[in-house]
Amino acid sequence: MSEIPLHLVGDKEISINSEMTILEAARKAGIPFKSACNGQAKCSTCRISVLEGDEHFLPRNPLEEALSLRRSFPCSVRLACQTRISGPARIRRMILEARDLEDIGDEALEAVGDEIKCAILFCDLRDFTPFVENNLAHDVVHILNRFFQHMGEAIVENEGEIDKYIGDAMLAVFHQGQNPALNACLAAKSMYRRLQELNPHLQKFFGLELKFGIGIHFGPVIRGRLGHQSLKSLTGYRSYKSPFSPGSIPSTHSPPNTSLRSSFEPAKRF
Ligand code: FES
Repeated sequence: MSEIPLHLVGDKEISINSEMTILEAARKAGIPFKSACNGQAKCSTCRISVLEGDEHFLPRNPLEEALSLRRSFPCSVRLACQTRISGPARIRRMILEARDLEDIGDEALEAVGDEIKCAILFCDLRDFTPFVENNLAHDVVHILNRFFQHMGEAIVENEGEIDKYIGDAMLAVFHQGQNPALNACLAAKSMYRRLQELNPHLQKFFGLELKFGIGIHFGPVIRGRLGHQSLKSLTGYRSYKSPFSPGSIPSTHSPPNTSLRSSFEPAKRF
């Protein structure tokens, strides 16, 4: 198979053949290309700019075409992980400098966003603010930690993942197992039972009875790590196919006592 010279401006001239992608050839030559999605045409961190020899570039495959359309890339921008050439060319890596990496942050180093079908469970305490205002910080933190510990057990034992705590609220995601929606409902049921077990202790030592509201939704969600470099967290956004937003699960619209809301098809079986 004949070798083709490929000049990477700012790097060096490497050798490629028509079977290899540019990413494969560059890596073989020891050039550290970014490829956050590992060559699946999902991240565009491997993108290159075509400087010369565009007539030797094979047309975009469907994966590259789809991503290029979404990102509005001009013809001169190609994905190194998808692109093959048939003759000499000059290209430039586009994610190259430290500054480029700063701008895109961990996107270049971590998995990029994906879409999952999941159940999201949101639980928050009712009327906890007056207790916080009238009690010692130590007691407040102690009670919250006991509450989260008990509720977290219910989530984990039903294949859920605790996603985050927001004051006296918590958000959990269920996307493992055969039926994530059912798992979320089972977790909610277990949380209710565990709260009944916890309350006598809180009543005895703090004169407090906790009540919570739980909202559960199921649907497609776009998931990714978002935020400033110094703090990133996993965040879900409503997919265009989904009727709800994970950030606005309406547990606060539930009645004031312990309650459970759910709104998805599989949950109706529960
Ligand atoms: S490595 Fe992600 S698009 Fe090429």
